[in-house]
Amino acid sequence: MNKKIAEIISKLLGFYNETPKHYEGKILGSMTTHPHSLAVYAYNLFIHTNYGDPYIFSTLKNMEDEILIEISKWYGETKLYGYITSGGTESNFLSMISAMMKSNCKNKIVLVPDTVHVSIIKASKLLGFKLISIPTNNSPVDPGVLENYVRKYDPCITVVTAGTTELGLIDPVREVAKIAFEYSVYMHVDAAYGGLLIPFLYKAGKIKQDLKFYEGVSSISIDFHKNGLTPIPSGIILYKNKDELENTCFEANYTLYGKYCGLLGTRPGGSVASIWAMIKYFGYEGYYKQANNMFELARYTYEKLQKIKDIYVYKPILPIVVFKHRKIPYTELLYRLVQKGYYLYKSPSVEGLRVVIMPHHRKEHIDEFVRVLQKLVNERR
Ligand SMILES: Cc1ncc(COP(=O)(O)O)c(C=O)c1O
Repeated sequence: MNKKIAEIISKLLGFYNETPKHYEGKILGSMTTHPHSLAVYAYNLFIHTNYGDPYIFSTLKNMEDEILIEISKWYGETKLYGYITSGGTESNFLSMISAMMKSNCKNKIVLVPDTVHVSIIKASKLLGFKLISIPTNNSPVDPGVLENYVRKYDPCITVVTAGTTELGLIDPVREVAKIAFEYSVYMHVDAAYGGLLIPFLYKAGKIKQDLKFYEGVSSISIDFHKNGLTPIPSGIILYKNKDELENTCFEANYTLYGKYCGLLGTRPGGSVASIWAMIKYFGYEGYYKQANNMFELARYTYEKLQKIKDIYVYKPILPIVVFKHRKIPYTELLYRLVQKGYYLYKSPSVEGLRVVIMPHHRKEHIDEFVRVLQKLVNERR
């Protein structure tokens, strides 16, 4: 091997060895996982492709069509429109662009429960929306309260979340959709986290709420790089109407395709290929099984954490387990855990710490984590 390449590889491996790995089970707060080897293969096979131009790379467009047909079935629809994106942030941006472009968007106001993801706040700032936030006290938004806000502010768009980032709450999508329909408000459901969990857990009877394109829902975002086992970046935005998707496309006469859709220009075709491969490999049954396994492991984590003295645990709705210690400040606990090699995230709204059970987590990871936490708490007494 060329000496220079060997040197670079050796340095790369040095960095790699120092990098935390998901399979070690210590990255407990992040909504990321190690991608499936088939998804990585698919991604690498199409590493040269730019999905910014589906004219040249029309095979990717065909794959995307197949993805949309399959996901439409999961969401009880015959045909949804959509676009593979770089993830939840881009998908959420696109929903706001779609809403903004509609002729009935009189007031550039976005109405959201205060549990909404930061990407909506970012999008509203960058797109010049006024954000009206409904206080929820860490509960799913009350539809009656949301309706009052709709009457008062006449928003252009409302965004609710199916699987909130901090607690995994599911806003009442069906009820809000009724309101959105009645008042002709564009409604987007941010299911970046919950999109590959909720339909399956509902089917299994583990949660009370389903996620569908109820009349009134205009778009839904779902991330594949969270629970879909594809490499980062990969998400999808789904639309009921084609026009709303077209509203996110901008003329680019110099290209063969003639337009750019979405926020990115050049974009990884590997994302499309890897989602296609995972959908073919797992299918509905595979993701159903995975969602249920993660749910069970979250319940197991909840029960184990409850046994630690002075730890209060929130009962998980989706596979997110939030806990806090009655005496030790949560930020202190967070950094003590970091010192032990554990990476949790915060749920600042309840001053707690967040464990997100992801597809790579196993019981042994949880047992070891609980042991470390128990020891840490004992030492602090
Ligand atoms: C509910 C929700 N929406 C959107 C996002 C943003 O997704 P991404 O990081 O893929 O842009 C996240 C990320 O955690 C999320 O939890």
